[in-house]
Amino acid sequence: MNLYETDELLGQYMDFHFGESHFGVGNYPARCARLCQDLMAGISKGRALDLGCAVGRSTFELARVFDHVTGLDLSNRFIDSANEMKRDGQKRYFLREQGDLGRHVTATLVEVDLQSVAGKVEFAVADACNLPTDYCDYDLIFAGNLIDRLEDPRAFLASLHKRLVPGGVVVISSPYTLMEEYTPRPNWIGGFEQNGVPITVLDGMRDILGQHFEMMQDPVELPFVIRETRRKYQHTLAEASAWRRIR
Ligand SMILES: C[S@@+](CC[C@H](N)C(=O)[O-])C[C@H]1O[C@@H](n2cnc3c(N)ncnc32)[C@H](O)[C@@H]1O
Repeated sequence: MNLYETDELLGQYMDFHFGESHFGVGNYPARCARLCQDLMAGISKGRALDLGCAVGRSTFELARVFDHVTGLDLSNRFIDSANEMKRDGQKRYFLREQGDLGRHVTATLVEVDLQSVAGKVEFAVADACNLPTDYCDYDLIFAGNLIDRLEDPRAFLASLHKRLVPGGVVVISSPYTLMEEYTPRPNWIGGFEQNGVPITVLDGMRDILGQHFEMMQDPVELPFVIRETRRKYQHTLAEASAWRRIR
């Protein structure tokens, strides 16, 4: 069972992307998009690709400054919701209080001032690790909280340069929650010791992306809060790194 196809996760992600902020932590997809925008100052902002876009908030946010943004995700449910937001400008979802109790709420693009960019985004179901060849020539690729959900993050990272124009930028944010149900241990790119030396996921990314990219600035921390119920929240600290294609 893919968790990202369930009612439960759909409600959580609709709230995460379009609901109110919790404990004063600002909207994560919007902050990620703003970071991308800042990094792209002075760089062409024609086409962007949002991999693992879920219900689409970062894709819409990137469209504030990009001419066209494609959001891709493996979850049919999530992509259907993103498309509903694009088509209707709104979507109802269930916000759980406790047990079976909760209420239906409506997210709208107008509330977050994104209605005018809906014509610049497209959403599709696709596997970020097995993309059709025509997903190419992007100025920016953003992968938010995706790499620790992949079976083979090394192969994914090693393929990214082929999708970008020369000088294009990749932004990867992740809390590096290495979990064997998503990434078998032999495929971990960090989070272990090698010859007594600790290797982090960032070290692994440096090693793999270093073939074609240079790091643009020191990684930044991006906290986020996902509401599970009225009384249970996940508070997580992602790290975002930015890489510019040089070869
Ligand atoms: C932890 S969620 C993060 C979603 C969103 N980027 C965010 O930060 O809110 C991971 C997302 O990646 C998607 N995903 C997992 N594996 C994928 C793959 N191979 N290709 C595309 N999307 C994938 C899941 O369906 C889910 O929407």
